[in-house]
Formats: sequence, C-alpha cells, structure tokens
Amino acid sequence: MTDPDRTSDENGKAVRTTLPDRIETERLLLRPFRLDDADAVLSYARDPEWSRYLRALPSPYGLPDAERFVAGQLLRDRVTHPSWAVVFEGAVIGGINVRFRFEHGSAEIGYSVARTHWNRGLCTEAARAVVDAAFSTHEELNRIEARADQANGASQRVMEKIGMTKEGVLRQSRIERGAVLDLAWFSILRSEWGG
Ligand SMILES: CC(C)(COP(=O)(O)OP(=O)(O)OC[C@H]1O[C@@H](n2cnc3c(N)ncnc32)[C@H](O)[C@@H]1OP(=O)(O)O)[C@@H](O)C(=O)NCCC(=O)NCCS
Repeated sequence: MTDPDRTSDENGKAVRTTLPDRIETERLLLRPFRLDDADAVLSYARDPEWSRYLRALPSPYGLPDAERFVAGQLLRDRVTHPSWAVVFEGAVIGGINVRFRFEHGSAEIGYSVARTHWNRGLCTEAARAVVDAAFSTHEELNRIEARADQANGASQRVMEKIGMTKEGVLRQSRIERGAVLDLAWFSILRSEWGG
C-alpha cells in the first residue's frame, strides 16, 4: 500500500514535486529563508504588536528565537511543509508557509508581515501567490485552510481577500500564554479557486 505522506520511493526518487523555491509577484519575491535572515526576522518579530495574536511565540523575542525560527524553516521538508521569506524591496519583511496533508487533499497556510508594512496588500499578494502555486502544482489538492485568533481582524481579512470562506469559530479551543482563544477557520476549495 502506498503511504500518502511518502515523498520518495524506495530508491529515494521524489514522488511528489515541491512548490517553487522562488515565487515572484508584482511587488514581492518569495524565497527560502537563509541563516542570515535572523536579524531581519528579529527586527519585526520583537515588536509586541506583531506577535499580539501569535501568543505561542517567546516573549520577549530575542536573537536566539529568530535564529531558531530560521533554522527550523531550513530543516523543514520542502515537499510537505514549504516556507518562504517574503522579500520586499530587497528586505525580508515576513514569512509564509504551507503545511500539506496529502492524504486528505488539504493544506493549511500561515503568514506574517512586519508591522512597518501592514495594510498595503502585501500579505494578500503573497498568500494569493502561494495558494495559486499549491493548487497548480498539486492536482489532487482540494482544500486550503487557514486559522486565526478570532480577534485578529487583519489576518481574517487577508483570508477573505484571497477568496476563502469563513467556516466558523472554534470557541475557547486553545490556551496560549494563559489566554483562552477562539479560533476562526477559513478555507478555499479548488472549485472556488479562480486559478
Ligand atoms: C495579518 C497580517 C499578515 C496582514 O498583513 P498585511 O500585509 O497588512 O495584509 P494586507 O494589507 O494584505 O490586508 C490587511 C487587511 O486587513 C485590514 N485590517 C487591518 N487591521 C484590521 C483590523 N483590526 N480588523 C479588520 N481588518 C483589519 C486592512 O484594512 C486590509 O484590508 P483591506 O485591504 O480590505 O483594507 C499582518 O497584520 C501580520 O503579520 N500580523 C502579525 C502576525 C499575524 O497575526 N499573522 C497571522 C496569524 S493567523
């Protein structure tokens, strides 16, 4: 029986393609994180306003946390869990990732952008490009979902703008740093994707 999560055959040959390492949009370049991105990550991630709804992150956020984040991105399997640094005008201003569950034909995306660049449509541009890449690369992919703290209006607005539908709110479904969180879930199905 074939393991749906398998990324290589018995000879080590890849049986699933990766999403492109580099994705260019009108204003952005998405490319894999590099170790020397830690300072850029630190510059936005140490902002408490940026991490307001990312309560699982260390707080205060220091250089070792940024280095651990970047190293973690490098170690991820780029078939099942690709991630990209979001580069705008030559600088890393955020990150975006997808986690595939091929056995269910589904995936989840997550993203962030530095506060200095909020509300210019940049996250929407990155997220749309990644959704397009995921649906066009994996024909069997049927659904892409995303979740946010119910209080995180900007994140949910991005989900709406990329064509996702709000499916509901899981009430009090997580406890992070002592806070009980309601999580809003959104998704887009292949049949709703304009690609
Ligand atoms: C969520 C986040 C990625 C959005 O990035 P961004 O580049 O500002 O997103 P965009 O500019 O593409 O879209 C933001 C939209 O949210 C709207 N918005 C901003 N603050 C809002 C709020 N408090 N409530 C509702 N909508 C809000 C903006 O007006 C914009 O919508 P519009 O284009 O219709 O005007 C960014 O705020 C961020 O990184 N936050 C910190 C990390 C985070 O929360 N990540 C998501 C975890 S689920």
